[in-house]
Amino acid sequence: MSTVHLHLLSKLFFIFCLFFQPRSSLSSKNAILPLKIQSVSSGFLPKPPKKLSFHHNVTLTVTLTVGSPPQPVTMVLDTGSELSWLHCKKTPTTPLSYDPLRSTSYKPVPCTSPICMSQTRDFVVPASCDPKKLCHATLSYADASSVDGNLASDIFRLTDSNLTGVIFGCMDSESSSNEGEDKLTTGLIGMNRGSLSFVTQMGYPKFSYCIAGQDSTGVLTFGEFDFTSTWHRPLTYTPMVKITTRLPYFDRVAYTVQLEGIKVAGTVLPLPKSIYEPDHTGAGQTMIDSGTQFTFLLGSVYTALRNEFLKQTRGVLRVYEDPNFVFQGVMDLCYRVERNRVGLPVLPSVSMMFRGGEMVVSGQKLLFKVAGLTKGSDDIYCFTFGNSDLLGIEAYVIGHHHQQNMWMEFDLTNNRVGFAEVRCDSAGQKLGIDL
Ligand SMILES: *[C@@H]1O[C@H](CO)[C@@H](O)[C@H](O)[C@H]1NC(C)=O
Ligand SMILES: *[C@@H]1O[C@H](CO)[C@@H](O)[C@H](O)[C@H]1NC(C)=O
Repeated sequence: MSTVHLHLLSKLFFIFCLFFQPRSSLSSKNAILPLKIQSVSSGFLPKPPKKLSFHHNVTLTVTLTVGSPPQPVTMVLDTGSELSWLHCKKTPTTPLSYDPLRSTSYKPVPCTSPICMSQTRDFVVPASCDPKKLCHATLSYADASSVDGNLASDIFRLTDSNLTGVIFGCMDSESSSNEGEDKLTTGLIGMNRGSLSFVTQMGYPKFSYCIAGQDSTGVLTFGEFDFTSTWHRPLTYTPMVKITTRLPYFDRVAYTVQLEGIKVAGTVLPLPKSIYEPDHTGAGQTMIDSGTQFTFLLGSVYTALRNEFLKQTRGVLRVYEDPNFVFQGVMDLCYRVERNRVGLPVLPSVSMMFRGGEMVVSGQKLLFKVAGLTKGSDDIYCFTFGNSDLLGIEAYVIGHHHQQNMWMEFDLTNNRVGFAEVRCDSAGQKLGIDL
């Protein structure tokens, strides 16, 4: 590359940095939002091209208002995506909850803007110029289809702050097959560490969430919330891993942590620590992803965990033997549980041993009841860890199911993730808000 080009690039980068200066005036503002678990049918969610092609349909959602006058929107919370987006096109089946034409503060991003030249993995192809000289972006869906739209900005209104000029994708969704459930959701809020994500744009030093069960409401907080003074105990912290080199399988803007081992009850899986470390291609990264439902492990680790869990549950649980049944195509350890029994039997807990501390998955969180599937008088439950190889990804992904009833803090200033087990259905009360 010539020096002229380099010079031009560095200039562009400079302009870009100017644009994305964290808004210090806003970053001090804290906000709390209710957080819900909602069913959203599979293909509907746009996903970065290299991310999961997996059809999960239970997602975390937050409700806020966008535009002037404010229009209520429900957005999926995704720590694994960068660009936030909203459905912006009416279809016969989906009424629009955010209509850019009804918002006086809506501004499309012109294609001459440096934002339009920014690189995010969420785009299938680089953003381009449409005939109206507006910035045109294409996002891919989980099922490999894609959706087009314009980059734009508008006011995002949280509990008691109005955030102006938030950049998002105003997408022309087709939303053909998945009516019903999709009506509940208007878009997605991108929370990863990329420059276009909501948290980066707003310059928040920290955000946290606490996911309650299916029918309860948890919380999402932006800004400095002090866990310790509210709950009178500390969080366990694990450092975020940074690899600055570009590697084919490594997502540099993900919340990457280091797994060092997995334990079933007292037994550590007999695997070398190195199996949990990203290799020279970046494969083997561990990401905390609120946009994925379950937890996925690379094949060899998954197999070891499966075998150990199977061994320790022999005599406690009855395996569902159907070689043709793989839950959602990726979870192949399922059990028959008598429909009339009260609760699940006592199960060995699974601990994910992160650098700095363990995250324990126990009780109900270990098994997920398969909706609508029964065998005789039994319900079918599947183990909530799945095989990354079957998903076609090269990473360990910690999904939101295992983050339930866990205070999760993403400390961006100190590059670490904190966690502690708490009751999330009462977190709102604890923080003194009525959700
Ligand atoms: C998820 O989707 C599957 C098939 O698309 C459906 O059978 C199931 O009921 C859905 N689960 C939830 C919790 O909505
Ligand atoms: C945010 O905007 C709304 C609607 O314009 C207004 O009523 C409200 O007072 C604003 N809130 C703050 C904190 O500026």
